[in-house]
Amino acid sequence: MSASLVTVAYIGATILFILSLGGLSNPETSRRGNLYGMIGMTIAVLATVLGPRVTAAGIPWIIGAMVAGGGIGLYLARTVQMTQMPELVAFMHSLVGLAAVVVGYASYVDPTSTLNITSAEKAIHEMEVYIGVLIGAVTLSGSVIAFGKLSGKIGGKPLLLPARHWLNLLGLLVVIWFGREFLHAETVAQGMTPLIVMTVIALLFGIHMVMAIGGADMPVVVSMLNSYSGWAAAATGFMLSNDLLIVIGALVGSSGAILSYIMCQAMNRNFISVIAGGFGGGAPAKAASGDAAAPVGEVVPISASETAELLRDAKSVVIVPGYGMAVAQAQHTVNEITKFLRDKGVNVRFGIHPVAGRMPGHMNVLLAEAKVPYDIVMEMDEINDDFPATDVAMVIGANDIVNPAAQEDPSSPIAGMPVLEVWKAKTSIVMKRSMASGYAGVDNPLFYKENNRMLFGDAKKMLDEVLVALKT
Ligand code: TAP
Repeated sequence: MSASLVTVAYIGATILFILSLGGLSNPETSRRGNLYGMIGMTIAVLATVLGPRVTAAGIPWIIGAMVAGGGIGLYLARTVQMTQMPELVAFMHSLVGLAAVVVGYASYVDPTSTLNITSAEKAIHEMEVYIGVLIGAVTLSGSVIAFGKLSGKIGGKPLLLPARHWLNLLGLLVVIWFGREFLHAETVAQGMTPLIVMTVIALLFGIHMVMAIGGADMPVVVSMLNSYSGWAAAATGFMLSNDLLIVIGALVGSSGAILSYIMCQAMNRNFISVIAGGFGGGAPAKAASGDAAAPVGEVVPISASETAELLRDAKSVVIVPGYGMAVAQAQHTVNEITKFLRDKGVNVRFGIHPVAGRMPGHMNVLLAEAKVPYDIVMEMDEINDDFPATDVAMVIGANDIVNPAAQEDPSSPIAGMPVLEVWKAKTSIVMKRSMASGYAGVDNPLFYKENNRMLFGDAKKMLDEVLVALKT
């Protein structure tokens, strides 16, 4: 394949990737978005492998790597539980970081990469290597720690070293100083020491940055590492002089940054402090939960048949799903109940919090899988004003996202986080197994409100009972 044909293929792939991102922004077009992405990636891989820069001798290596990588990917995609997705994503980000580091070193020691180039071009190439390895190493170690925290292998408590911001600043200054040494090195052997020192500092910085972040704030960190992995890929593109990789890396980097920003807003976090990697320095949610006022009042349990009765008598129902619905895999029963109620003329809608569950879009994916119609699935801002006119708000395995303490108790660790105001409905029903707290580890005063009822038990089991009761 000629170089100009490869360029045309790359432009086509770029357009498909942009269309893919556009498609993924809406559940109704997300399938198409995925398809565009897959076609774009196939074109990109074929154009690269068949292009002029890959020699025939390299093809068996590429095929071997693709079979091994594709096999592992297929196995993981088939076996991973939906609730393990965030840690899988974190693990994948670490591979992007690792690739950037390895490509950086390979590109630096490769004598052909600096053949027949001017000294200015050589300096630019070395800067690309240095920055690429730096971003890659931070992404690599940060993602490994995020994986460890999300999978429970490392404790969720933030590790706050004394003078940690000064340590980070010192690390940055050392990296800049060694960057100068690296650019002034006359031979590869001379440049290796500053490159290795910087890599070690970047790896330590990645570890330090994510270790300092409390468990409740991990979603933002995963999204931020997603953004970093995009910039690492873009840096790899610069090192390999691959335009497509630069564009795709920038797309992933900027869309990850936008997602981080949206999530920061949804969790009431400061975006700048997240980007700086310094947040979590305040009291982490779990550690501080004891400081907030303990909720008072009476908890009123309800049975499945009483729940069915309330639902049958309602004109308007809003269902708020959370992490517990994912754990119980209750989405299909939820859909059955929704269908039943809608057939009886009840206005049933869903209220989705931006950080419900354990990953962005977690609830949307589950509801789409169960074939809940998209047009009744509302975002938090679209539905929040409707709660006062709602007869029953049914909370299924959600906790933090419906916690009124976020609005009512300034001392609460989640104070200021936007929440779904289910307590404003005529009756709210919370479905969960116990009085245990949610991800953020804070008590929930909703359970004690006068108009709230608790339906204790596994969400799937209880909803099955509600469905039976509705039908009889
Ligand atoms: P949580 O606050 O974690 O509450 C989930 C509740 O589900 C728990 O209190 C649990 O109570 C209940 N539950 C667990 N298994 C259940 C089952 N089988 N049947 C019925 N209930 C069950 O979830 P949420 O309200 O969805 O809020 C999400 C939280 O996760 C937020 O704090 C968010 O910041 C954080 N987070 C979000 C993300 C993203 S990006 N979405 C990523 C990581 C973390 P019982 O034990 O009493 O049953």
